[in-house]
This record gives sequence, C-alpha cells and structure tokens, in this order.
Amino acid sequence: MPIPTITTERLILRAFTLNDARRVQELAGAFEIADTTGHMPHPYQDGMAEEWIGTHADDFERGEGATFAITLRPTGELIGAIGLTIHAPNQRAELGYWLGVPYWNCGYTTEAARAVLQFAFAQLNLNRVYATHFVRNPASGRVMQKIGMQCEGTLREHFVRWQKPEDLVYYGILKKEWAK
Ligand SMILES: CC(C)(COP(=O)(O)OP(=O)(O)OC[C@H]1O[C@@H](n2cnc3c(N)ncnc32)[C@H](O)[C@@H]1OP(=O)(O)O)[C@@H](O)C(=O)NCCC(=O)NCCS
Repeated sequence: MPIPTITTERLILRAFTLNDARRVQELAGAFEIADTTGHMPHPYQDGMAEEWIGTHADDFERGEGATFAITLRPTGELIGAIGLTIHAPNQRAELGYWLGVPYWNCGYTTEAARAVLQFAFAQLNLNRVYATHFVRNPASGRVMQKIGMQCEGTLREHFVRWQKPEDLVYYGILKKEWAK
C-alpha cells in the first residue's frame, strides 16, 4: 500500500517524491531547523534529501514509519515534513515534524499534526503517540499541547546537540483520550 494523501482545511499531506529533494534541502538546510531537531544534519548536503526520501516507501511498507510532505492546498508548495516512527509491537509511534522558517506561527504544524494523529489512531490503529522537544523549543511544545497531548515529564540532559546537553520534554496521547 502506498503512503496515503491526507487533506485538511489548508494543507495536503502527501508522500515525498525525489522531485521534492531540492526544496527539502533549501528548507531543512536552515540552521533554525537543525538547531532544535535531534538528528537533522547541518550543513544539509547534496544527496541527503534524496537519500532520506528514498527510505520512506520501504519504511511504510514494513510498518515502521509514515512520512508526509506538508504542502499548501491552493498552490501545492512544499512547506515542511511530518511523520510517525512506528513501533508496532507496542502499538505506538513517535510524532516528529519541521516546518520551513517562512511559514512558522501560522498554525500549519498544528493542523498537520492533528491530521496525522487521526491517521495514527483511526487508520494505523495505534494505541499511543508521543513526541519530544527540547526545553528551549517551546513552540514545539505548544503544538503538542494544542493537539491534545499531555506532558509526561522531562528527562534531564537526555540528549546532546551541538556538544551541549539538552533537557527533553515528553508528551503523549492515548487512543482512548483522542477518541473523546
Ligand atoms: C516547532 C515548529 C514545527 C512549529 O511549527 P509552526 O507551524 O510554527 O507551529 P504552529 O503555528 O502550529 O504553533 C506554534 C505555537 O507556538 C507558539 N510559539 C512560537 N514561538 C514561541 C515561543 N518562543 N515560546 C512559546 N510559544 C511560542 C505560537 O504562538 C503557536 O502557539 P499559539 O497558536 O498558541 O499562539 C517550527 O517552529 C519548526 O519547524 N521548528 C524547527 C524544527 C523543530 O523544532 N521541530 C520540532 C522538533 S521537536
């Protein structure tokens, strides 16, 4: 089964194609994106986007991941990425996302994340979705709050980014909570 397309009020979430690679490199290459994500490479070199996009179909086929391009409905413009890393034995997934800097604070990530939660619970039949953010990245925490996730605690200096330890905040939502 291919990665599905999900339509929301302002967005279309769809599978990435290799044609998106240059745009991914342009947007994800901004330091502001790498700074608060755990694993985004920086500098974002030629070929990295193609390699990343090339993993998506197999990950979805194996039930290990579902990654979507976030695009604007009227224009088709690619503005970011959102996805689930799935751990089927525990019926759970980790939600992750980034949005191109020019598009921040318009509610786009929240809108995309709501749709992906719906997909996780209603289509993939998962039981739990969680997400984490660095303490110094409150905008991401706001997205998690706005989609109904609960703060489950902070793991102190759990992550090292740019050679500096980062406190990591965990948020989660269960299927029975989402269903209400
Ligand atoms: C985190 C990120 C995805 C948010 O995307 P976005 O589309 O701007 O998010 P939304 O517009 O849906 O919501 C952002 C919320 O954070 C709030 N916010 C923004 N900056 C903030 C700050 N410094 N402190 C507190 N809240 C802040 C906004 O006001 C908004 O909340 P509101 O609707 O209650 O006003 C985006 O900033 C990003 O891509 N950052 C870099 C990559 C990254 O950090 N990814 C997540 C890793 S955990």
